[in-house]
Amino acid sequence: MARPWRGIIAEYGDRLPHVENVVTLNEGGTPLVHAPHLDALTGATVYVKVEGANPTGSFKDRGMTMAISRVVDEGVTLVAAASTGNTSASAAAYAVRAGIGCAVILPAGKIAAGKLAQAIVHGATLVAVDGNFDDCLRIVRGLTDSYPVALVNSINPYRLQGQKTAAFEVVDVLGDAPDIHVLPVGNAGNITAYWMGYSEYAGRRTSAAFEDSAGRLAPVASRVPRMWGVQAEGAAPLVKGVPVEHPETVATAIRIGNPASWGYAIEARDSSGGWIESVTDAQILDTQAMLAAKVGVFVEPASAASVAGLVQAAGRGLVPEGATIVCTVTGNGLKDTATALGSHIVEPTVIAPTVEAAVQALGL
Ligand code: F0G
Repeated sequence: MARPWRGIIAEYGDRLPHVENVVTLNEGGTPLVHAPHLDALTGATVYVKVEGANPTGSFKDRGMTMAISRVVDEGVTLVAAASTGNTSASAAAYAVRAGIGCAVILPAGKIAAGKLAQAIVHGATLVAVDGNFDDCLRIVRGLTDSYPVALVNSINPYRLQGQKTAAFEVVDVLGDAPDIHVLPVGNAGNITAYWMGYSEYAGRRTSAAFEDSAGRLAPVASRVPRMWGVQAEGAAPLVKGVPVEHPETVATAIRIGNPASWGYAIEARDSSGGWIESVTDAQILDTQAMLAAKVGVFVEPASAASVAGLVQAAGRGLVPEGATIVCTVTGNGLKDTATALGSHIVEPTVIAPTVEAAVQALGL
């Protein structure tokens, strides 16, 4: 039997900064699922990288294992994160594993219920801010500048180091880099991390890498993909080229007006020959429903943005025939069932507890 997956630090430690005290929930090793329905829509060969299969239900766990391990090495006993929900869920869980405290700074009323529940059950201290994510990040920066609290947002470079391993996994499964990689963009850490990972595996360096294995280990990939980033129309600063003061979208995870990794995202876009575009909330919700109904993968709205961007690009004739494309679907649909169901709350018919009644209800 193949050995079980051990978490990204054990699996990819030779390409990560060294940490002494490994704090892990065996994150990573997520499914890369071929989606024939998306092939039919685009004329390409499309895979979805199901990051909702991580321990806390999002890609954040890859970065959090690195960041929290490093915090423990430094002897810090309290971490803080600004979040639209997934970072806080992940930070709270990894803080439990490390036996340290966790404070989460959240935009009041804009966190999906499942994500809020995660922060609560893992025992984090919650602070709700009358403001948006960008305000929360400013507060956390201020706190961690002046108090013995470690910041575990993606401006912590260890986060991006962990997140780059998703690109390694894609190459390890496909045998080389895909032609195109599509992902949703909020604070722009993940697009930065994927570009770092793909570049490193092809023996190249990016400016976000404070440490990398490019010159030390032999390349694994012969090429890098084009990076396609997708933002929500009401929160699309990278598309507009200016910060958005009041970002608004149903995809609360990417409701961000001034991404911290702005410059790195532009580098990923431009040096890969890619683009960053936006999709509407209606496209996001339609795509979320389509992924559930036709692909069998239930993702949260922000995650559907990547696939919505791909489908939009196909409609504009921008998808090369036969290309190999990977879309990251970043978080689990179970985190936000209210948005997924919307007005479609189905009240099942209640029947008598007999086979006959079930047969009748099913019309068999
Ligand atoms: N998808 C999901 C599900 C997310 O939670 C996020 C970011 C993104 C995409 C965008 O990734 O910020 O690296 O560009 N969530 C952060 C949080 C902001 O606080 O959980 P990004």
